[in-house]
Amino acid sequence: MHDIRNIFILTGAGISAESGVATFRGPDGRWEGHRVEDVATPEAFRRDPALVQTFYDARRAKLREIEPNAAHRALARLNAQWPGELLIVTQNVDDLHERGGARRVLHMHGELRSAWCLACDGRTRWEEELSSGPACPGCGAAGEMRPDIVWFGEMPYRMDEIDAALMKADLFVSIGTSGAVYPAAGYVQTARYLGARTLEINLEPSQGSLFFEESRIGRAGELVPEWVEEMLAGLR
Ligand code: APR
Repeated sequence: MHDIRNIFILTGAGISAESGVATFRGPDGRWEGHRVEDVATPEAFRRDPALVQTFYDARRAKLREIEPNAAHRALARLNAQWPGELLIVTQNVDDLHERGGARRVLHMHGELRSAWCLACDGRTRWEEELSSGPACPGCGAAGEMRPDIVWFGEMPYRMDEIDAALMKADLFVSIGTSGAVYPAAGYVQTARYLGARTLEINLEPSQGSLFFEESRIGRAGELVPEWVEEMLAGLR
């Protein structure tokens, strides 16, 4: 591993699965009983704001019941001990990387614990429900706050920082993502084109599996700590 300095880690719903968070593309193709397009698009929010707010209120409330798992904690350990740069880019809207101790986490699809006011465009840390139409702490407007989540058809966050980190990456690791949603699904090809090594850790081969030099198939809670141990052993 002596040639690896900068590590880019992309995570998806699979890394939180063992903490009890439902993945999006389960065997029944539904997310917590809903079609993704009924709860995770701007059109769905316009059509039925109460349904969408209640759905995300439940996801936000669930954060109080779940804990980071061995995969989140292992990445935090690597984050603390790795001498080069390490960035975790997550598609997840939970806060399990942070609670597991990770230092640099970028949420490209937003966060459950953030509310976005459509009246003043401000963002506020938010733990409670939004369906009751609370007033924005910034501008006072009532009923204007929506989940600060990137829905289908919306632009992911922090793209410039992500691109800059991809350019510098010596190793690209994808964990627990199906590779179905762009732009994240395309990062492996960019990273590889720019000369990075590539590794995927997933319960099953992802849709982009053939683009990775190495695929480790199994549970993140087992395979991620193993991989982190290998990386840290390579430093000794
Ligand atoms: N360990 C490792 N991988 C797992 C585990 C596990 N314990 N459990 C499930 N997986 C894998 C699944 O096999 C699947 O390939 O995690 C992947 C999860 O894929 P998705 O449910 O499609 O989630 P993700 O890739 O994060 O979705 C991307 O889609 O709806 C949007 O915005 C939403 O961020 C989300 C994006």
